[in-house]
Amino acid sequence: MPITNFDFKEKYQYQNGFGCYFETEAVPGALPIGQNSPQKPPLGLYAEKLSGTAFTAPRHENKQSWLYRILPACTHPPFAPAPAPNESLGLGGEPFRRLRHIPNQLRWDPFDREPDADFVSGLHLLAGAGDPTVKQGCAVYVFAAGRSMAEREAFYSADGELLLVPQEGVLDIRTEMGWLLVRPMEICVIPRGVRYQVRLPAGPARGYALEVFQGRFVLPELGPIGSNGLANARDFQAPVASFDEDCGATASDGPNEYVVTAKFNNALFRTTQRHTPFDVVAWHGNYYPYKYDLGRFNTIGSISFDHPDPSIFTVLSAPSDHPGTSVADFVIFPPRWLVGEDTFRPPWYHRNTMSEFMGLIRGDYDAKKGGKGGFVPGGASLHNVMSGHGPDVDSYEGARNAELKPAKVGEGSCAFMFESSLMLGVTDWGLKTCQKVQETYSEHSWGGVKVHWKGGSA
Ligand SMILES: [Fe+2]
Repeated sequence: MPITNFDFKEKYQYQNGFGCYFETEAVPGALPIGQNSPQKPPLGLYAEKLSGTAFTAPRHENKQSWLYRILPACTHPPFAPAPAPNESLGLGGEPFRRLRHIPNQLRWDPFDREPDADFVSGLHLLAGAGDPTVKQGCAVYVFAAGRSMAEREAFYSADGELLLVPQEGVLDIRTEMGWLLVRPMEICVIPRGVRYQVRLPAGPARGYALEVFQGRFVLPELGPIGSNGLANARDFQAPVASFDEDCGATASDGPNEYVVTAKFNNALFRTTQRHTPFDVVAWHGNYYPYKYDLGRFNTIGSISFDHPDPSIFTVLSAPSDHPGTSVADFVIFPPRWLVGEDTFRPPWYHRNTMSEFMGLIRGDYDAKKGGKGGFVPGGASLHNVMSGHGPDVDSYEGARNAELKPAKVGEGSCAFMFESSLMLGVTDWGLKTCQKVQETYSEHSWGGVKVHWKGGSA
């Protein structure tokens, strides 16, 4: 079924396509024709350029949008440092300096729900690498929120492009460029700098997030697969322009106060302005937020023998400067048929030069047992650079002895992986404060792995 049957129904319209050049106007005539910056833009709007790449980036990488808004984004009092909402967010470089790099396999029980937090205060840096100030590296977060962000509040990150993977609840995200409804089994990407507000129309929300400081998410190359397959470009959805009108005669004398919080080198800064930041009446360009239903992923796999590399399940990839090696990939393990003959069908045991952070959106993952103390929705695992891992003993023995009929696995389930070429360090919050690390993960998973060796003669 190539679409997820969501309990919470869609309420917005979108523009479909990945990496497209879109144009959208909430009021007819708001977009200038044939030029970007006329002397007087239509309807008395301001033209504002939002650059996602260097002006001189090669044409195939160049990302920018033109926003036509009631007041430009610069019209605010100076930002001032904002209090850090928790021990891993808003402290500048400190959590990155204190990341702990350990070769042990790590697994976490489901992270706590946080009824008093909103999306920003409930965001926790769990692991990361690199440095946002030099635009290198990435960060892995978990978030839990029990309430919407305030009506007159917006947030943006100058640090990187953020991929959100909700696991519980519904995210109703108002961005400068329009609305996105993001439900579990959908993901969204918010580009660096785009201002947004997260509302919770269906109660508390929880999930995972990946921020890349370098580059942007793109569709992976398909090679011999051809021109369709995996995540197809037409299934990505971008917002249409939507705006509020709330301002005074000038930028500084509007009737209401709007708080804009910036994440800048993992520190938070705040300003209060007298006009809404959600005043973009029209925009055109190829730099915009978007969402994708993971149910639409066209899963490809072996129809002969052997388990292919998990790269076959890549939804989005944030490439590094080295071809074929990503800062981070977003990979899913959706429901699929396994038909391999004379094949150990689950993932093999392996050690990887990449680091693998996994989460579970729903259901059971076929290579790990669920239940208390297992790999369960809302929990996570991290297998870092060259840390050995693979099926737990029960999954291994089950697959070793299974009758190899065609079998559907993962029905009602979706595990995912953030796979990075970087060695991920874990924050104090991730190792201690959250109190979710399963201390006996390794022993429970692999302590009982059996010796099947029969001696030197086959
Ligand atoms: Fe792995």
